[in-house]
Amino acid sequence: MHKKDLRPTTLNGRKDHLAPGLSRRSFFMAAGAAGVGMAAVGGARQAVAQSTDWTQPGNNNHILELQGKTDFPAGEVSIDYYGHCAIKITSPGGASILLDPWRDDPSGAWGLWFKNKFPETLVDITMSTHTHFDHDAIDRPQSTMVLDRMAGNFEFADLKITGFADKHACVAPGWYPWTDALKEFGVDACPPSNPGHMDMVTYVIETGGIRTLIWGDNRHNPPEEFWNAIGKIDVLTLPIDGSQHILSYDQGNAIVERLKPKIVIPTHYLGEATTYTLSTLQPADEWVKSQKSFKMLDGPSMKLAASDVAGMDREFMYFGSNVQTT
Ligand SMILES: [Fe+2]
Ligand SMILES: [Fe+2]
Repeated sequence: MHKKDLRPTTLNGRKDHLAPGLSRRSFFMAAGAAGVGMAAVGGARQAVAQSTDWTQPGNNNHILELQGKTDFPAGEVSIDYYGHCAIKITSPGGASILLDPWRDDPSGAWGLWFKNKFPETLVDITMSTHTHFDHDAIDRPQSTMVLDRMAGNFEFADLKITGFADKHACVAPGWYPWTDALKEFGVDACPPSNPGHMDMVTYVIETGGIRTLIWGDNRHNPPEEFWNAIGKIDVLTLPIDGSQHILSYDQGNAIVERLKPKIVIPTHYLGEATTYTLSTLQPADEWVKSQKSFKMLDGPSMKLAASDVAGMDREFMYFGSNVQTT
């Protein structure tokens, strides 16, 4: 970075209030901003990143209890939907993981996406696939462990988690060319010289005899090694909405065709309980209804037994606007 880029910039004759050492240019590069947005219109807000986890109530007693066990029951896996890409998976033995809790962009550049703060839900492990604001509110759940962007293997209780590092979708396929905004600020969104916020980790979570792949915002065309490594997938989450913000319908269908999962769960769409229209996202109904077999769920939870899942074939399970709020 050139030294002059580190100078404070002036916006509308007012002094910028960015974090020390963060220039207007680097701010947008870091945020991957969609445009001048609120930061310019309303004056920049200071981006503050401080963990508040030390203030959380509760303690690690549940982790100690699980840690001391050697036998875990066979049984159902619970999946709870918290809106957007946030999903909680609970093992038959009671170990829980919350993936991709969301928040609004703290820089303000992307505007308002979410109607509420993410619930301070009680969970054993919180995980995030990447650093975008709509996936990284890792301080919000009341969680003993945080596994942020974890590549490699992790085993605890009756859970096995494998993280595969890859890259974010870097060419917006829909009507809203949000990846062009990165170009406008001099950032190459695509690999190999992408900024860190366009890195991704997808997770395979294995528990109760069911293998779930959390796609996050990953690109539709990861390298061959990726496909070979992830193996057989029973439950697949995919970020597809009517605006085709991350993946297009065709890209999603091709992934489903390749993996042939038993169940597909759409994520990253506009759900009226969670998300504002300002996000530019749309519901996923159209894509779901174009599938051979689908179920419009009437609640935010489902329980899956491996024996039932084994008999399914690309069954689309759509949570719609049904979300857990606690
Ligand atoms: Fe993202
Ligand atoms: Fe996202």
